[in-house]
Amino acid sequence: MKKTLLEILENNMNSYISGQDIATSLNMTRANVWKEIQKLKNQGYTIDSIRNKGYRLISTNDILNSQRIINEMVKFKADQVHVFEEIGSTNDFATKLALENPSLESALIVSNTQSLGRGRRGRSFYSPSNSGIYMSILLRPSLSLLDTQLFTIAAAVSLKNVIYENLNVSTSIKWLNDLYLNQRKVAGILTEGEIELETSSYKHLVIGIGINISNPDCIPEDIRNIYGSISSNINIDRNKLIARIYERIMHTLSSLPHSKFQLIEEYKRSSLVLGKLVKLSNFGDRLFKALDISEYGHLIVEDENGEITELNSGEISVVINSL
Ligand code: BTN
Repeated sequence: MKKTLLEILENNMNSYISGQDIATSLNMTRANVWKEIQKLKNQGYTIDSIRNKGYRLISTNDILNSQRIINEMVKFKADQVHVFEEIGSTNDFATKLALENPSLESALIVSNTQSLGRGRRGRSFYSPSNSGIYMSILLRPSLSLLDTQLFTIAAAVSLKNVIYENLNVSTSIKWLNDLYLNQRKVAGILTEGEIELETSSYKHLVIGIGINISNPDCIPEDIRNIYGSISSNINIDRNKLIARIYERIMHTLSSLPHSKFQLIEEYKRSSLVLGKLVKLSNFGDRLFKALDISEYGHLIVEDENGEITELNSGEISVVINSL
């Protein structure tokens, strides 16, 4: 496959590569190489150039780039990767893509910012530029509806693991699918899909992931006391992280439904709510004890009279840290 200028520069970050060598690889003139270098510089890449030595990429400045994401994908490659500077919602784009391209099996959609980022229960998801990851994975699952319910659980566990392994930050999962760090929400997952009634399966599924990587300059008033960010000290290359998240989720999903018991066990170990007192949306101030997670990821709670209820959706808030 023909390499791009960016790939050539990335593969030579430790040394200078001459304009002539680049021109030969890309089958273009040296003058055109210079023009393409200027375009990359305008996009924010820092490229040093020395007469008689050539060009060297100094830093990629964490700019989202589809080719860089694709280069980082090793075992699982999406059929299409779309990267935007700004979009309404990556989930909306993924859904449109699925409906317009029935033969498309997989896609990854990423944006640097979203103007209409959506969360669960009709909420908006604040998606400021340069400080987060906003990505959607489009899939065509072949599992039953019941097993496909586990995809959100699988995504949450995968996300937690990638953040820990790559950024050394240990988050907890608040049922169903929010990641928390120091009592603040640092990531959320919104899974949406279209069900085919005849086959009782999903025609397509979109797993949307939003991660607050660093604190933006301004956080809206209504979410200021809950908004958190990963903010680790190490330099984060979002392209690499996005590819790792995509691959880990695809890997976890590929072992379902066989691995569902291990998955639930891992989910339970990461849980922020098990063993704690919680309030449920629509139940006012009543307190419930979060007892367990079922094999389908449902939350099992006990009320003050010892009555057990299994919840498959809804909102909970943790009220007491431990019993
Ligand atoms: C939640 O917190 O309730 C879920 C948030 C999910 C946000 C992500 S960001 C990428 C994708 N596009 C959206 O509009 N939402 C999801």
